[in-house]
This record gives sequence, structure tokens and C-alpha cells, in this order.
Amino acid sequence: MDEMVSLAAQDDPEPYFDAHIFVCCNRRPDGHKRGSCAAKGSEALRDYMKARVKEAGIPHARVNMAGCLDRCEEGPCLVIYPAGVWYRIETRADVDAVIEQHLAGGGRAEALRLPPERS
Ligand code: FES
Repeated sequence: MDEMVSLAAQDDPEPYFDAHIFVCCNRRPDGHKRGSCAAKGSEALRDYMKARVKEAGIPHARVNMAGCLDRCEEGPCLVIYPAGVWYRIETRADVDAVIEQHLAGGGRAEALRLPPERS
């Protein structure tokens, strides 16, 4: 079943958060063939993002650590729901760009986006 199927039901509530951000903090052993986001620094970036979002006073946004999001080779990665937008974040400057352009600005940090297609 490759087709996208909508799982939305008519009486589903509005999303609880405007931006629910999941930062992959999965760690695999060194040398694992897929690597892992934590081995590429995602835990510190998640901590930084959580603090910056709070400092910026962005309403109805929540930053959570996540287990493997299955885009390991493209990481460190995060996804923002309900928009379903994925980003690769390698530095604090990348996190700042996502906050400023997406969360505060309402646009997209295009330079950091991961492709939306399923591989
Ligand atoms: S380890 Fe981060 S997506 Fe798999």
C-alpha cells in the first residue's frame, strides 16, 4: 500500500499545538551503518531549541525529543506537526533559522528542508 491514505476523521479535534516539534535524539553505537542523530549532536540541539522557543515566547509550540524518525541518513532531523515539515539541523544557527523563519515567521526555512517524498 503505497498510496497516501488520510487517517483524519470528521470529528477529530483541532491540533493541540500549533507546532509540535519532534527532534530525533536516537543514539546508535558508533560504526552502525545507519548512524544516528544523537551521534551527530541532536541532543544538544534539541536542548538549545527548547530553550530558544521558550525565550522567544512562541505560543502553542512544544519541542519534544523523539526516538528514531527513520530518516537517519538525512539527520540530525526534526519534524514539525501538524504541518508535516521536516528539517535537517546541524548547528545552532540552523535551529535559529527554523525558529525565526518557520515558528515565528510562519514561513519555511527552505534551505534546511528535507524532501517531503517518501523514499
Ligand atoms: S536516528 Fe534519527 S532518524 Fe533515525
